Amino acid sequence: MTSELASVRPGAAGGPGGVSPPASFRIGVLGNGTVGAAFVELLGQRADAIADEVGARPEISGVLTRSRGDFGDILDRSDLIVEAIGGTDPALEHVLAALRAGRHVVSANKQLLSRHGDELFDAAAASGVQLRFEAAVAGVVPVIRVISETLAGAHIERVNGIVNGTTNFILTAMERTGATYEDALAEAQALGYAEADPTEDVSGLDAAAKMAILARLAFGAPVHVEDVPCEGIESVTAEDIAYARELGLSLKLIGSAERIDGGLAVSVYPAFLYAGHPLAAVHGSFNAVTIESPAITEITLSGPGAGGSQTASALLGDVISAMIPPPFAPPPAVPTRLVTDTVSAFYLHVDVGDHPGVLAQVAELLGLQGVSIKSVVQKGMGVDARLAMVMHPVLESKFRAAVTLISRLEFVRGEPRVIRVIEGVFE
Ligand SMILES: NC(=O)c1ccc[n+]([C@@H]2O[C@H](COP(=O)([O-])OP(=O)(O)OC[C@H]3O[C@@H](n4cnc5c(N)ncnc54)[C@H](OP(=O)(O)O)[C@@H]3O)[C@@H](O)[C@H]2O)c1
Repeated sequence: MTSELASVRPGAAGGPGGVSPPASFRIGVLGNGTVGAAFVELLGQRADAIADEVGARPEISGVLTRSRGDFGDILDRSDLIVEAIGGTDPALEHVLAALRAGRHVVSANKQLLSRHGDELFDAAAASGVQLRFEAAVAGVVPVIRVISETLAGAHIERVNGIVNGTTNFILTAMERTGATYEDALAEAQALGYAEADPTEDVSGLDAAAKMAILARLAFGAPVHVEDVPCEGIESVTAEDIAYARELGLSLKLIGSAERIDGGLAVSVYPAFLYAGHPLAAVHGSFNAVTIESPAITEITLSGPGAGGSQTASALLGDVISAMIPPPFAPPPAVPTRLVTDTVSAFYLHVDVGDHPGVLAQVAELLGLQGVSIKSVVQKGMGVDARLAMVMHPVLESKFRAAVTLISRLEFVRGEPRVIRVIEGVFE
């Protein structure tokens, strides 16, 4: 290793007489946007306290933007690189170069980790340096650390998360005010919770990248973002949310990763939760992750999922961890079968015309596929009647087959709407 890291230990500086000043620990920062600039500012405020605690003073050795700084020069003068550019080009090239040159890397970049994790972890392991990324998932909520360190001894069975603050803000606004999806999105954009182009967030892609990272850590499997099927919230209606409220449910965009029959199911979808589920109480732009294991029952971590100062705090925590050995490295990933047809409860909404025995015919088609109804709300009269119902857990393929048959009934108007229901409650 070419850096000074090997000599940095808590209390290493000064010695009994305290004569020598703390050694410096040089940090190159890639990106000076919301996160990069907040990191530089936070480090300025905390550097003295960190020096007292760790025995080395963290200092900024250079900042790279599109118009400022030279990457090679910054790398030469750094012990650790903080990557806050985002995306994969040029972040991948820079991060790989830093790891191969024996520098620790701390990154906030979910795209990078969820697309190129194998290559990056291999490069870090080959150089004997650390690659840390707490800020890449759920902002300052310490989910990476808890899964890979605190729960390293637990056999994790399931991780469910609200890992996208934009969609949680929109769904919370729809639930609280009865707003349409379009109006709630416009409000989120006006308040800065959603980008002008919100596609990445509302389509579930952002959450899928984060779930790929969590699944890799929780299950030691090489899951990539392309392996994670995702469904967004664009077609959720105010009506669904209102009816579901009557059934005791509230809607969240859920990232889910769980062990099933020796394989793994990882996906992102809108889901209804009963009030006893810990994620049902997570509102607004907050993120939360629930981790389940027989050894621990259930742990839920929640907090702000984004924001400059919050993300910078997660980055700085990782920097301090990298300054203090022993190094953290996830165990090697083991290929695992991905399961896509899983058991779930479902909400089904059907608009129906004026016709006798509507509910009986819908129930019969569900029954033929082995789907049983748990609860029903019937609304409206005549040609404007609607059925909203929740099913008992069933294999998804069976339920979808029943819905296809239902959609062909002559009195059904429009496409039936389907949303998963997560039945777990922890009380
Ligand atoms: N914002 C959040 O709340 C948040 C939360 C968690 C994680 N993150 C992650 O943190 C990372 C940074 O996000 P951000 O919100 O800070 O982004 P941002 O405000 O857009 O800042 C990006 C920075 O990267 C620089 N950059 C872009 N392309 C570059 C290139 N080719 N060469 C050198 N520098 C380049 C930009 O330079 P210029 O200044 O020259 O444009 C800018 O300073 C992303 O991975 C994001 O997913 C963000």
